[in-house]
Amino acid sequence: MWKLHTKCRACGSDKLNSVFSLGLQPLANAFAKPSELQSAFYPLEVLFCPLCTLGQLSCTVPPSTLYSNYPYVTSKSETMQAHFESLWKAIKSECEPESVCEIGSNDGDFLNFARANGAVAICGIDPAENLAEEADRKGIQTFRGVLDQDMAKTAFSAMPVIDLVVARHVFCHVDDWQEFVKSLEVLCNKNTLVVIEVPYVLDLLKNVEFDTIYHEHTSYLSIKAMQFLLEDSPFQMHKVIRFPIHGGAICIMLRHRKSGIDPHDSVSQMLHSEQITEDDWNEFGMSAHAKIDNLRELVLKLKADKKSIVGYGASAKATVWLNSLKLSRDQVAFVCDSTSQKQNRFVPGADIPIVDPGALTRELPDYAICWAWNFFREIQTKEVLFREKGGKWIVPVPELKIV
Ligand code: TMP
Repeated sequence: MWKLHTKCRACGSDKLNSVFSLGLQPLANAFAKPSELQSAFYPLEVLFCPLCTLGQLSCTVPPSTLYSNYPYVTSKSETMQAHFESLWKAIKSECEPESVCEIGSNDGDFLNFARANGAVAICGIDPAENLAEEADRKGIQTFRGVLDQDMAKTAFSAMPVIDLVVARHVFCHVDDWQEFVKSLEVLCNKNTLVVIEVPYVLDLLKNVEFDTIYHEHTSYLSIKAMQFLLEDSPFQMHKVIRFPIHGGAICIMLRHRKSGIDPHDSVSQMLHSEQITEDDWNEFGMSAHAKIDNLRELVLKLKADKKSIVGYGASAKATVWLNSLKLSRDQVAFVCDSTSQKQNRFVPGADIPIVDPGALTRELPDYAICWAWNFFREIQTKEVLFREKGGKWIVPVPELKIV
């Protein structure tokens, strides 16, 4: 059962105001096989905390429903590899990590990268059994479950000295932040570097990336909210770095207050410059609904002109878009995706089949909407034949454009 969220995760305030809603939406990554039941629908509404500026969903779906069999696999794209390189360089400017524990380790790609770049002891924590099995096959010890203090004790007994704890795009999925911080206390010694990477709420608001709002992402993090969260903890923010990955992310490095290392200037600079208000969210909401109306209008006009349209990238973002647009396979015939776990399944709530990327050049539709807009440059290069044969791309974010 889902539960109603009423108290701010970062500062504990119960004065949360509703600032954005997409009504009832299915779970964005619940891609069902033809014989399976489609996902249930849950409210998708953002609440804003005026005290610490955290955005958070009003509805929390339990991890057992979201992650027991999870099709999201860390991208194998060149864009992601380049990001791993940049992140590793940033980490190496702080420490020489020999032992690495990753929270939300998915199929083990980042840990594999860490091992190839000098880490000698690695372990992961992830609730998705199907992905943990993949990681096991790569020789990466993976503890099954979400991070809590018990899980932290288990990981700690396997790896008692951890130089680096990494949580890439997982903190925004966590419901109980107090428990998360207490679990970090179990995992870390005073020299451990903690690296938390999440989508940055300022990029979300600026580029109107409303399609990154779905039930897995329980929170939309500001640096100010992180400051509130850590106030009474043994950790402090050490450094903040912005990265372009996934439409704009922040990497927040934490260190133990007893580390003896002073925080980097980026923390105070970004805390000072970050101003987020309820009005920003209200404006974002209006722009998001205008974006949905514009794309729907374009699709319906193209269909009236007898054009064929498909989607490319069955990302969670595609589920949000397609359900907000209220389109079916009558308008978008199929969605191509390179992830084998998603192929031969359906976009949740929209009943549109997901097929292999080869279908783009086999079927040669007039238009392909790129729902994986964060990888558009790479996809466009890979699918050059589609353009050469006269196909056109529709890219919906940051601004709707036809290429
Ligand atoms: P993500 O933005 O949530 O990582 O999702 C991107 C989706 O796009 C993912 O399902 C994989 C898919 N994809 C392709 O099908 N081809 C590609 O070349 C790339 C980069 C991604």
